[in-house]
Amino acid sequence: MTDTLQIEIHPIEKSRIDTVDFDNLVFGRTFADHMLVVDYKDGAWQTPQIVPYGPITFSPAMMSLHYGQAIFEGMKAYKNAAGEVLVFRPQANLNRLNQSAVRMCMPEIPENVFMEGLTELLRLDSAWIPAKPGCSMYIRPFMFSTDEYVGVTPSKTYRFIIFNCPVGSYYTKPLRVKVETQYIRSAHGGVGFSKNAGNYGGSLYPTKLANDAGYDQIIWTDAATHQYVEEAGTMNLMFVIGDTLVTAPTGDTILDGITRKSVIAVAKDWGMKVEERQLAVAELIEGIQNGTVKEAFGAGTAAVIAPISTIGFEGVDYDLPERPEDAFSRRVYDEINNIRLGNTVDTRGWVYKV
Ligand code: COI
Repeated sequence: MTDTLQIEIHPIEKSRIDTVDFDNLVFGRTFADHMLVVDYKDGAWQTPQIVPYGPITFSPAMMSLHYGQAIFEGMKAYKNAAGEVLVFRPQANLNRLNQSAVRMCMPEIPENVFMEGLTELLRLDSAWIPAKPGCSMYIRPFMFSTDEYVGVTPSKTYRFIIFNCPVGSYYTKPLRVKVETQYIRSAHGGVGFSKNAGNYGGSLYPTKLANDAGYDQIIWTDAATHQYVEEAGTMNLMFVIGDTLVTAPTGDTILDGITRKSVIAVAKDWGMKVEERQLAVAELIEGIQNGTVKEAFGAGTAAVIAPISTIGFEGVDYDLPERPEDAFSRRVYDEINNIRLGNTVDTRGWVYKV
């Protein structure tokens, strides 16, 4: 790959945009016209291509289907009042994608491939970025191994793709979540910090059991003792306890969420106390009972800030108080939203203008 990146663009003949009901977007069901596709072979990333979004063909022996070398990211793009396209913290997603790549024995994506590919793709599909409040363009970069081979070893070839989905809210109401004390999401030395497909596959069965019991999501606890709160799989978890924002420290078991990082940065800038520390489930439940836990919410790219209404633990539901108008989770949502939309001066260098 040379310094001057060539991108081959094969535009769609007829856009599908007229078929989309932008007033009723369901998260993850609508796909913009184009996708970026970059192949890795012979030890190098090949010329990026932008092609019409659509099915791809592969061998039944494609290794990612069998051995799980598959990683992904989630980012969002918005239009500001002047119609310019803004992406929230894409560099942070690239860094995390490459951390996942290293752990999963996959090649890292060069910055120019990621950023220039993303830029060209968003320019081409900018008409698909919804303008309606609460909506955005969800960007899904991902990479998977493509060798046709039956054997457990790192593949020699890979494909990196970015596609875009105009989306509404991921969660549409406050969440009922269940503290999971039987199944685990990740353990020390494992891959919990990486955004690999298997982490999500492993969560489906326990989450289905929780759904069947009337909960929307799981609060994962630590693998060794099930005593400490980790994350929710689709988002990190945050709590306002007294006057302090409390969240689990990221390590090798928890995804280092970019919304999580952003919430912490804003809270600190506002002079709020922030504790990244182990939070025992027992402390959480006691805090809900005695009123010191004021707010519980998830933070993630898809979820943004997702308020939690109820926490289920050992068969008992514990309700969080109603959020007042000036709740931290409301204010921090507004702040981050205004930064993403370009309504607030971006003093932290979080917004990338396409
Ligand atoms: C994201 O927040 O971007 C994620 O990847 C979570 C996913 C479950 C939609």
